Amino acid sequence: MARRPVGKRIGRREDFPDGTSRKFTLRCRGESLEGFVLGFEGELFAYVNRCRHVPLPLDWVDNQFFTEDERYLLCANHGALYEPTTGECLWGPCFGAWLQKVPLKMDGGTVRAFCPEHD
Ligand code: FES
Repeated sequence: MARRPVGKRIGRREDFPDGTSRKFTLRCRGESLEGFVLGFEGELFAYVNRCRHVPLPLDWVDNQFFTEDERYLLCANHGALYEPTTGECLWGPCFGAWLQKVPLKMDGGTVRAFCPEHD
């Protein structure tokens, strides 16, 4: 019988208040995948750290994904803006594309991340 995937523990719920973001790595299909988790409007969201314009990490300053006003996610490479709740690119060269979501699950007070279904 196959073992149920347990996901990777990436922190406690209280580690991610609104306006904070932090990177983590997952091992998915034999490869390392960098993701980031963020707190926004009382909820947690996570995405693969790969812009939909050019496949580069969004952050130049480690773990800094929010715009200054903490309203959008910013790709520091060419300034694309993404919606934190959906990952949709709202402005910039990737307009209309979507960041790849990383599934999260709460396990008690622990946040666990799981490999995305597709690349
Ligand atoms: S690489 Fe993100 S906007 Fe160009």
